[in-house]
Amino acid sequence: MQWFEVDKQGLAKLLERKGKSFALFELIQNAWDENTSTVDVGLDRIPGTRRVRLVVEDDNPDGFANLAHAFTLFADSSKKGDAGKRGRFNLGEKMTLALCDEAEIASTKGAVMFTEAGRVNRRVKRERGSRFEGILKMTDEEMRECAEAVRRLIPPDGIETKFNSQVIPARVSLAEFEATLPTEIADADGVLRRTQRKTVVRVFDPKPGETAMIYEMGIPVVETGDRWHVDIQQKVPVSFDRDNCPPAYLAKVRALVLEHMQSCLSAEDANATWVRDAIQRHGDELSGAAVERVMDLRFGEKRVAFDPSDPEANHRAVAEGYQLVYGAQLSKQEWDAARRAGAIIPAGQVTPSPKPYSDDPNADPLKVVPEAKWTPAIHAVANYAMRIGERLLGCPVSVTIASDVTWPFAATYGTGRLAFNLGRLGHTWFERGDMAEINDLLLHEFAHHFSMNHLDAAYYEAISRLGGKMVKLALDEPGLFVLGADRGASRAA
Ligand SMILES: Nc1ncnc2c1ncn2[C@@H]1O[C@H](COP(=O)(O)OP(=O)(O)O)[C@@H](O)[C@H]1O
Ligand SMILES: [Mg+2]
Repeated sequence: MQWFEVDKQGLAKLLERKGKSFALFELIQNAWDENTSTVDVGLDRIPGTRRVRLVVEDDNPDGFANLAHAFTLFADSSKKGDAGKRGRFNLGEKMTLALCDEAEIASTKGAVMFTEAGRVNRRVKRERGSRFEGILKMTDEEMRECAEAVRRLIPPDGIETKFNSQVIPARVSLAEFEATLPTEIADADGVLRRTQRKTVVRVFDPKPGETAMIYEMGIPVVETGDRWHVDIQQKVPVSFDRDNCPPAYLAKVRALVLEHMQSCLSAEDANATWVRDAIQRHGDELSGAAVERVMDLRFGEKRVAFDPSDPEANHRAVAEGYQLVYGAQLSKQEWDAARRAGAIIPAGQVTPSPKPYSDDPNADPLKVVPEAKWTPAIHAVANYAMRIGERLLGCPVSVTIASDVTWPFAATYGTGRLAFNLGRLGHTWFERGDMAEINDLLLHEFAHHFSMNHLDAAYYEAISRLGGKMVKLALDEPGLFVLGADRGASRAA
């Protein structure tokens, strides 16, 4: 005694939402799963009726191994154990039959007729191949949809597939590569299990008007809307409805396509969901080159990461024509991938702001020239700087003489501390005692008392303000501007 009865009418109603083209796909994929070299599909209106005749005929010499599987739902499909075949649920043929008012399946071991009265076995046997013929209701619109769906197929090499006597053209792939992807294979108990398996992946340009899809061995299964069709040459872990796959699987496929198609990417791709999804979920599996390529397309080749630890570096980068990439422009995973690939470097490392030695914890210890080793010319400039600095800024200024030729700045200023870099300025600069040069440097450094950022309004306003003040000071107290004046004064005292 059977546990289940199937309400064919009820099943047919449930299937309505899938559209009718799936019926053709189920029959075609069954034929493709066999040792077939030609498959003929016909879909014709029966004149003067709302019905059509759907015929799918193949030339597989063996025909059905077990004709009862044509009408037994969920019997153990022999294809479950073979990742290279499309079938597994032992459901498709029955779903197609559910749509039919009448049908006949004829194969090498016999034939079955399905009519309103029920199912009858017929004793006719075909020499070779199997033929499905079904009569079902279809509107003109549904017929068009079926014809269009069939054109989306990518027939496997070596199986000529015709629709209404016209060969469905083969497609030339843009790329083909091997990859390990999740698939489903039955274990010894016939239970379908997820497993990883190496397979071939083919990438195709969608034809005009087509939406990109994931294909399972030539049968479109999941609509992606990505840039390319991707045809996977093994079972795709599809849902029972065969029209969806897990998001993680989709992301994995997208990552593989991104990796292998990186040279063909456009700026639009780089910003598209599929590329972001690939990096988001599989950024760690992508090559540095692929991540770099995406970032090139998204932000241009001249780019730096916004660097909160060095605000001025960001301004400098922009002034030098870099594109600043802010934190919120990429997800955490995208940043991780970009960092791993060294694809977006912080502005502070590309266009660093000059830093006073003392403020930079990463800098080498300051190579300081002790005061005992200062030359008279250095003393004169240092004293002048302290004297003028205190008058301009209204607070004491200390002077350090550093000597480091590798340090790229002539001087720095930070919170009352001025450092001259003898390594850059050279002794002659001090000897020369050129007031124009010295004041130029001092105004630049003292303005940092008000802002560290050269591109900040507060900074350049400070320079002009200090310049004005300096001129007034020079007019009022010219003696302050004599280099070595203090030395003379102290000697006198
Ligand atoms: N054209 C065909 N040639 C040979 N065998 C077929 C053909 N169509 C269907 N079959 C057999 O009928 C079974 C049922 O098909 P189907 O319901 O689509 O289930 P599935 O493809 O998932 O196994 C298949 O497993 C296969 O053994
Ligand atoms: Mg099938």
